[in-house]
Amino acid sequence: MLTEVTATRYVTPLREGGSLPGIVEADDLGTYVMKFTGAGQGRKTLVAEVVCGQLGRRLGLRVPDLVTIQLDPVIGLSEPDQEVQELLKASGGLNLGMDFLPGSLGFDPLAYEVDAAEAGKVVWFDALINNVDRSWRNPNMLVWHGDLWLIDHGATMIWHHNWPGAAASAAKPYDASDHALARFGPDVAAAAAELAPRVTEDLLAEIAAEVPDEWLVDEPGFDSAAALRRSYVEAMLPRAATIHERITLGAPTRSGPSRAPGWLTDRPTPWPHSTKDTAQ
Ligand SMILES: Nc1ncnc2c1ncn2[C@@H]1O[C@H](COP(=O)(O)OP(=O)(O)O)[C@@H](O)[C@H]1O
Ligand SMILES: [Mg+2]
Repeated sequence: MLTEVTATRYVTPLREGGSLPGIVEADDLGTYVMKFTGAGQGRKTLVAEVVCGQLGRRLGLRVPDLVTIQLDPVIGLSEPDQEVQELLKASGGLNLGMDFLPGSLGFDPLAYEVDAAEAGKVVWFDALINNVDRSWRNPNMLVWHGDLWLIDHGATMIWHHNWPGAAASAAKPYDASDHALARFGPDVAAAAAELAPRVTEDLLAEIAAEVPDEWLVDEPGFDSAAALRRSYVEAMLPRAATIHERITLGAPTRSGPSRAPGWLTDRPTPWPHSTKDTAQ
């Protein structure tokens, strides 16, 4: 089960992404990036954060700790921003929190080198969960203490938006040509060989069990949260075994062997800058 904490102070909104997450402090003295149940994207975003975030963590990828956060909307009463106040008002009860990584920087592929093995694991994982939000325009990765961390798994598992078509949708290929790590020559085959056997039915069921009931009830076509949890398992399990055969990667833009992973500040840039890379 995810640890449950209670929000004690709303600190500030994060306006980089689309969903207006906020930084909050909680009664365990932790600081979290909170994703709100009342946000326009709906509670499925929170379900996706739990399923995919916990799966990533169980596979050994770096995803910050997740918690659930109880919110009493009164903590937003003094909030001057109308949009934030509305969001807090609409989000009483259980919300999602991700451990805030203080001092982290947004991943920049021109400043930070990722080795082919790690890039392969991230691309394979994103293919598995069908993540459409890890492009070079919007990488949703942070560098913290010299390591790469994965955040924002809300826009994944397209199949959970249309359960009757879920099996067909989960069988579809993954286009990684825009992926922020595509340029690092991701070793997807090695990643699949190591990680796919670890994505078992039991593991997926354990992870689905961590999604709070209240984000699963009243889904059309399902008479219980347990039945919906099973559908998450059944959609992902066959995809794990074969998705590596259906990943499209663009031609690598960096030539030569992978260098040591990490910051490139005192090393020559190992690839030509392209106009594509100047955005963000
Ligand atoms: N755990 C974290 N630690 C530090 N900063 C974070 C963390 N999670 C998110 N952020 C910052 O907040 C921004 C928005 O968060 P994100 O999860 O990407 O939400 P959105 O759905 O709005 O894109 C990120 O781009 C990043 O700059
Ligand atoms: Mg984001």
